[in-house]
Amino acid sequence: MKFFADTAEIADIRELADAGLLDGVTTNPSLIKKSGRDFIEVVTEIAGVVSGPVSAEVVATEHKAMMKEAEKLRKIATNIVIKVPLTPDGLKTCKALTGEGTMVNVTLCFSANQALLAGKAGASFISPFVGRLDDIGQSGMELISDIRQIYDNYDFPTEILVASVRNPIHVLDAAKLGADVMTAPPAVIWSLFKHPLTDAGLESFLKDWAATGQKIA
Ligand code: G3P
Repeated sequence: MKFFADTAEIADIRELADAGLLDGVTTNPSLIKKSGRDFIEVVTEIAGVVSGPVSAEVVATEHKAMMKEAEKLRKIATNIVIKVPLTPDGLKTCKALTGEGTMVNVTLCFSANQALLAGKAGASFISPFVGRLDDIGQSGMELISDIRQIYDNYDFPTEILVASVRNPIHVLDAAKLGADVMTAPPAVIWSLFKHPLTDAGLESFLKDWAATGQKIA
């Protein structure tokens, strides 16, 4: 499963990339607002740091205007993925862009039928928001399982990009269900390292090593 960072913070992106934990980046208007930076400037910087797909979202809601924004965004770098909402205009834009060889991430997916529509529109990625479904008492992971089954039934090449990932259990469940990608805030990715037995074991090894009085280098 590929790991994308769901952030527009360059320092966090660099840290994950240096650790070999980064396959791509996703941004959205809320993350750009949080960064306090200029959208084009920050996306350009991210695309320079990461060689994998970098999602940049259009904010227009009508097809022609979406195409105009996408035209500007895809010029930034070859690894830019245009993110469009799961609406009729968004899917029309998806079809046009993928037909021209531009990668598209269809976002704000909350049902398996919506994912089926995105697959038919030729989406490169579909982004089901698992955390937001859990928030309203629906199962985010059941949706991932349904989409996996549907895409496998018909050999849709669209990659399932699990989004709105909030915790390590979401990551584990996504991987068990065969999701292609998950995007999470950097803190969630780093939290995957955590295990108390790792910390206790390391502490005890270091204590015993110190008692030997030896040095490796
Ligand atoms: O990838 C979508 C993500 O940014 C939404 O996450 O936690 O706001 O539901 P959240």
